[in-house]
Amino acid sequence: MTTTPPTDPTTTSSWGALGAHRDALTPDLRGWFAADPGRAERLTLDLADLTVDLSKNLVTDETLTLLVALAREVDVAGRYEAMLRGDHINVTEDRAVLHTALRRPSVDPEDDEAGSREPLVVDGQDVDHDVHEVLARVYDFADKVRSGEWTGVTGKRVETVVNIGIGGSDLGPVMVYEALKPYVQPGLEVRFVSNIDPSDVYEKTADLDPETTLFIVASKTFGTLETLTNARLARQWLWERLADAGVLDDTDDARTAAVGKHFVAVSTALDKVAAFGIDPDNAFGFWDWVGGRYSVDSAIGTSVAIAVGPDAFEELLAGFHAADEHVRTTPLEANVPVLMGLLNVWYTNFLDAHTHAVLPYAQYLHRFPAYLQQLTMESNGKSVRWDGTPVTTQTGEVFWGEPGTNGQHAFYQLIHQGTRLIPADFIAVANPARPLLDAVGDGAAVEPGADVHSLFLANFFAQTKALAFGKTADEVRAEGTDEAIVPARVFSGNRPTTSILAPALTPSVVGQLVALYEHITFVQGVVWGIDSFDQWGVELGKKLALEIAPAVTGDSAALDAQDPSTKALIAKYLELRES
Ligand code: F6P
Repeated sequence: MTTTPPTDPTTTSSWGALGAHRDALTPDLRGWFAADPGRAERLTLDLADLTVDLSKNLVTDETLTLLVALAREVDVAGRYEAMLRGDHINVTEDRAVLHTALRRPSVDPEDDEAGSREPLVVDGQDVDHDVHEVLARVYDFADKVRSGEWTGVTGKRVETVVNIGIGGSDLGPVMVYEALKPYVQPGLEVRFVSNIDPSDVYEKTADLDPETTLFIVASKTFGTLETLTNARLARQWLWERLADAGVLDDTDDARTAAVGKHFVAVSTALDKVAAFGIDPDNAFGFWDWVGGRYSVDSAIGTSVAIAVGPDAFEELLAGFHAADEHVRTTPLEANVPVLMGLLNVWYTNFLDAHTHAVLPYAQYLHRFPAYLQQLTMESNGKSVRWDGTPVTTQTGEVFWGEPGTNGQHAFYQLIHQGTRLIPADFIAVANPARPLLDAVGDGAAVEPGADVHSLFLANFFAQTKALAFGKTADEVRAEGTDEAIVPARVFSGNRPTTSILAPALTPSVVGQLVALYEHITFVQGVVWGIDSFDQWGVELGKKLALEIAPAVTGDSAALDAQDPSTKALIAKYLELRES
């Protein structure tokens, strides 16, 4: 395991300068905008289809200059190049990190320009070739399911796909599926089972017809307890329901045939897929250089490819690639993910922010914050650096969020007037996927025929404005407010936001958004010197669950071996279970 040691950011000259700059800085978004008419334009950047307005952040030009200098001192660009070329930057697992290779367009030998591109060969593997070979198989399978050529064991076409996976094998596919709902082929539905709580698989299968249901078992390792347990439950469900319908003989051959038509798998461990009983011809592989939380654009996205079709999936990948190219080719000063990652460092390490809100004003993005939680927190929730030494700064923030406007009526109070600094990203699309221009109003806020999407986005614009500029006591008084209530109605302003606006929630835009946050996460990880691609922190709980399982299922010796609190809790559980 050899790697360039991380640069301790706190030893860089820019870190010291940022500290001094912070001490001398009084955030004043009102004043900054008033004194600088070019601020909004200068701090609004493009990433492919995304317009990203950074101007309502608590930064001056000097702040950004110092942050970019920090990125240079810790060599963000060098680390990005190392990632792209397949260096083992996932140091603790001694692996390359090549999710960016999943979305490189295929090289057309007829196309001189593309043909001149160097093939990506890493550790002896022709990565481009393998990626596109699997994609072709996924697309072929997706086409067959969509056209009805692929049928269940009784010859009926597939109507429901159930993706069984957890973490990155669930959150990415479900988030993209929900985001691209308007692109889903009519007559097809995808459901997602993740939790080992058996009520999840029960609820997702209760009303399904086994003859028209296809299960995708998605697991990078094919060793995850939740996924394998749910896959076994689903297989049992299939056999029992087919037998109940009188279409499955009570023979091993019949059961195997049913699994062959109703189960496919996605994994890096194809031997384990075969051991489960899934035909290797019905398995789609990927590689250990794809982290689970970076895998939605691999075969892990098979459920999405079936739902929206290969063309839309290709567009999704193109969106990812456009963001990758932006990072690779844009100077740091205008590089959107670099600047957003650096802003997060600024808030976390210099302004003591602990959390970061992501607030999509697009209902179809309702799973985006949950997806980002794994991406960001599993990546950067670390206390040691990639050389094993302790980190020298605070690391990963808590990411959270809900779609607007729902969040406005729930937790925005704290963002506006609480004591904590909560940087927030607001995401919106200009064109709704499903216009509702004929919404019926009641003579109140919404007139018949009102453009409800514009009304919706008025909230997006209003919130970031209120957060930035607030409302002074004099402004409150000018409204005739009783003096006793004035303090409660003051908004301090200077609450930082980034606004991201896209033309529409197309597959490409979804890809751009996901890749944007992948790269933001990467940049923060490099500054902090951490391996953003391992996740050892999830291992202890998994191991203990296996160890505790006998105690919970009645092994008294195992129960006695527990600590007093755990023992008492399990005993109470057993008592409640019996009653
Ligand atoms: O427990 C965490 C984790 O390893 C994630 O990183 C991963 O996305 C998830 O479990 C699922 O893993 P797998 O795809 O191997 O089932």
